[in-house]
Amino acid sequence: MAIRCLLALLILQVALARDYYDILKVPKGAADSVIKRSYRKLALQYHPDKVKGSEEEKAAAAKKFADINHAYEVLSSEEKRRIYNRYGEDGLKQHGAQGGGGGGGGAADIFSQFFGGAFGGGFGFGGGEEEEQTPKGHNVRVDLEVSLRDLYVGTTVRVLRDKPVARPAKGTRKCNCRNKVVTRQLGPGMFQQFQQQECQECPNVAYARETEALNVAVEPGMSDRQEVVFFEEGEPLLDGEPGDLNFVLRTRPHVRFERAGNDLRHNLTISLVDALVGFSTEVEHLDGHKVHVAAAGVIVPGHVVRLPGEGMPLFEHPDRHGDLFITVTVAFPKALTEKQKAAVRETFKGLHDEL
Ligand SMILES: *[C@@H]1O[C@H](CO)[C@@H](O)[C@H](O)[C@H]1NC(C)=O
Repeated sequence: MAIRCLLALLILQVALARDYYDILKVPKGAADSVIKRSYRKLALQYHPDKVKGSEEEKAAAAKKFADINHAYEVLSSEEKRRIYNRYGEDGLKQHGAQGGGGGGGGAADIFSQFFGGAFGGGFGFGGGEEEEQTPKGHNVRVDLEVSLRDLYVGTTVRVLRDKPVARPAKGTRKCNCRNKVVTRQLGPGMFQQFQQQECQECPNVAYARETEALNVAVEPGMSDRQEVVFFEEGEPLLDGEPGDLNFVLRTRPHVRFERAGNDLRHNLTISLVDALVGFSTEVEHLDGHKVHVAAAGVIVPGHVVRLPGEGMPLFEHPDRHGDLFITVTVAFPKALTEKQKAAVRETFKGLHDEL
């Protein structure tokens, strides 16, 4: 079944805070069951017992685990979700509806409440038993163009998508089919085995198209090709769960800046006079702030000025930044008048006697 996601319209908005829906990788209108399944998947993925790696990676995962649990605590409660949708996080605080306020203990509680029931209390990670074998539709990947500025400051891209949704229809259809091996006796001492499909009858469905708005959270420091996942927003599957919808970030080339990992590169052209006597200027950064670049002495063409901390923010650590490397190009005059030539000769008399 070929299903296309039509990206009908893109509108850029600026919004920084990561919201609970982003954390659980679901759109705002997601059904409770989808939120639950997404939470389950993420909580198992980021559970402190399951994450391996450096102390820093573990700390980052622990924070994510707490965020995931906190988001689920709010979105799984009808009342809290309603308040959050209308008034945001501040609304929750005012209503005193926000539990302990995060913290490791809170997260563990929500986690054990959720999984305590499902696994009869004792649950271990070892086997694959916790992974349900529900078939899933195909994941859909869609390119999403963003600017370097978007990746520097972060933004929310609103995407309108036309998606196929299964609706009840007249009649019945075959479902839950499985292959069964049937043995038949053809005669004395003669058996034949063959495969037979056995199906159940289910109410029929028909696909209807539904337009849905998704807010794709582009966070500061995300990299080119990084994927933003919407859980179960991909290709639907009858008698299964939909695949995921993955937005693949593609950076539009910027006219003045180039990115190399967390660093930025910029070319600055100065005049020959500035190159000789020194200069002081400002470079406008991606978000508009001015970066001061200066040199007191002689600058040779190709000289690189390094400005620590003026590069891209680090993903999930936006208070830390890479560096900005400014390569200086010197604009030579096309020609000098005879008078200028004489003046230059006079000025630099004896300068290169050692050559
Ligand atoms: C700087 O100039 C070099 C050489 O012309 C070019 O290859 C590079 O792409 C330029 N970088 C930026 C950020 O414009």
